[in-house]
Amino acid sequence: TAMDWDEGAAEKGEFEHFMLKEMFEQPQAIRNTIRGRLDFEMGTAVLSGLDFSERDAAQINRVLVVGCGTSMHAGMVGEYAIEEMAGVNAEVEQAAEFRYRNPIITPNDLVIAISQSGETADTLAAVREARQKGALVAGICNVVGSTIARETGRGVYLHAGPEIGVASTKAFTCQVSVMLMMALKIARTRRLAGHAGTQFARWIQRMPELVEQVLKQNDVIKAVARKYAKCDHAFFIGRGYLFPVALEGALKLKEISYVHAEGYHAAELKHGPIALLEENTPVIALLNNIPGKDKTMGNAEECKARNAPVIAVVSEGDEAVAEGFDDVIVVPDCPPAICPIPTVVALQLLAYHIAAARGCEIDQPRNLAKSVTVE
Ligand code: G6P
Repeated sequence: TAMDWDEGAAEKGEFEHFMLKEMFEQPQAIRNTIRGRLDFEMGTAVLSGLDFSERDAAQINRVLVVGCGTSMHAGMVGEYAIEEMAGVNAEVEQAAEFRYRNPIITPNDLVIAISQSGETADTLAAVREARQKGALVAGICNVVGSTIARETGRGVYLHAGPEIGVASTKAFTCQVSVMLMMALKIARTRRLAGHAGTQFARWIQRMPELVEQVLKQNDVIKAVARKYAKCDHAFFIGRGYLFPVALEGALKLKEISYVHAEGYHAAELKHGPIALLEENTPVIALLNNIPGKDKTMGNAEECKARNAPVIAVVSEGDEAVAEGFDDVIVVPDCPPAICPIPTVVALQLLAYHIAAARGCEIDQPRNLAKSVTVE
């Protein structure tokens, strides 16, 4: 395959699994992703591989993001950021669904294909369909020279380094980093002021440090994980920017621990899934200090009332939110668009330690492949 690294040379070093190593590599991986791409003076992002000018960016009417699995979840964070910051209509679609439902595309649509491997069959087919219909198509890939990177011809590489663990971790945080920079670039051609752009660029630059703060709590998260390692079911709930994080947290847990885990919008829980709650079904509630927190707190209390234990993920300085819940994981306080980054790292660690306590084969989970090149 077209790879810019030698897979055989990748070593786990001091780490027991590639997944653990890759989670701990995230600060450096994000630094590599953002290096040279932030312009603090103009308050924007410089993404030369996208190969479109400010004038081209200003013409974009709508952004469609396609991908699968973890990459699709990263796309959802991008969707929210592009709509919120740039005021441009953005949508995410599962790549296979996009391809087969004969999507409506206009020439001012930007289609972004996200794929760590750059080889996922459904995402590649979506790229071909989007090109056929005359869209501007860009890729966000990690593997240099991969099929999707080549066929899109324009895009942004993650520079995250090889990801060997089947459960994607550093690719996700780097994909979100790219999506946030794209949102910033598009937003600056619209109503986002220079000083606001600079402020956001500073937050992007701080992301590696935010991740480091979460990694330092590895032992705390491990202790929480051990407590719940025997559960058969788990729910992850969140709103806004934390909704895709809830989906991704649940995906990590099911992939490597085989615990039946569901990510739900916090408001949707009462429309069915709440029927499944009982005392052995933990609910991981994302209660970071962003809009919607109070509502999610209400939903978490409803879970407690059904005897489900609640693990509260809260922002630093806002620990009082966790009162009355069973366990707490504290993540750094940051703006809504940034908070998926530190929060997902906490959920990656939680999934990892639950899987480890259950004795699972973490780097090579059953039935899963790193890259799915069939439909
Ligand atoms: C497989 C992997 C997932 C990954 C998905 C998309 O299912 O197991 O970890 O998120 O494919 O892969 P891609 O390479 O397109 O990001």
